[in-house]
Amino acid sequence: MDAITIRRLGAVDGPAYRSLRLEALERHPASFGTALEDVAGHGPDWFGLRLEQSLTFGAFRSDALLGAATLALQEGAKLRHKGDVTGVYIRGEARGLGLGAALLDRLVAEARPRVEALRLTVEAENHAALRLYERLGFRPYGRERRALKIGDRYHDEVLMELVLAGDPALEPPDAHHQESPRAG
Ligand SMILES: CC(C)(COP(=O)(O)OP(=O)(O)OC[C@H]1O[C@@H](n2cnc3c(N)ncnc32)[C@H](O)[C@@H]1OP(=O)(O)O)[C@@H](O)C(=O)NCCC(=O)NCCS
Repeated sequence: MDAITIRRLGAVDGPAYRSLRLEALERHPASFGTALEDVAGHGPDWFGLRLEQSLTFGAFRSDALLGAATLALQEGAKLRHKGDVTGVYIRGEARGLGLGAALLDRLVAEARPRVEALRLTVEAENHAALRLYERLGFRPYGRERRALKIGDRYHDEVLMELVLAGDPALEPPDAHHQESPRAG
C-alpha cells in the first residue's frame, strides 16, 4: 500500500476538499453542525478560499484525499488562548487504519505552540469519534442537550477539551504547594 502523507490544504485542494466535505455531510449528518444544504451550493473556489483562510490538514494516499480535519483559531484578544477542532472526517474505505489519529496528532502538534487548550463537540452516540478523542487525551467537560435538530430528531453533543498548557489544576501539586524557605 502507498504511504500516507499529511499536509496542510490550500486553494489548490478546493475541488477535492469540496467532494470530501459534501460526502461527509451527506453520509454523517449527525456528526457535523453544518448541514449539506448550507454549503452544497458553493463551488470549488469557495472551498479553496476557506482552506486558505483556515488551518485544515488532509491525509492523502497517492493523490487521493482520504480525510481531513480543521484547527480553528480565534483572533479576539480574550479568546485566542483556545482553539477548536472541527470537520474531522475519514472516508469509509480508509477507516480503522490510524488516519484519524494521525490527523489529530498533527492538529495537536500545530496547536501546541499557539493555544492553551483545544475544544470540540461530538455527537453523544458517535462512539468511534469519542474513543478516538479520548485516546488522544481529550476529556468530556459537559453535554449540550438537543445540540442538533435533524428533521424531527434531536441529538445531544458531548463537549470535550484537551488541555495543552496553563491549567494549574493539571500541574503536579508540588509546583503550587511548596513551603516557603525558612531561615535557620
Ligand atoms: C471517527 C473517525 C474520524 C475515526 O477515524 P479513523 O481513521 O477510522 O480512526 P483511527 O483508525 O485513527 O482510530 C483511532 C482510534 O479511534 C477509535 N476508533 C476508531 N474507529 C472506531 C470504531 N469504529 N469503534 C470504536 N472505536 C473506534 C479507536 O480507539 C482507535 O484506536 P485503537 O485502534 O488504538 O483502538 C471516522 O470513523 C469518521 O470519519 N467517522 C465519520 C465522521 C465523524 O464521525 N467524524 C467525527 C466528527 S466529531
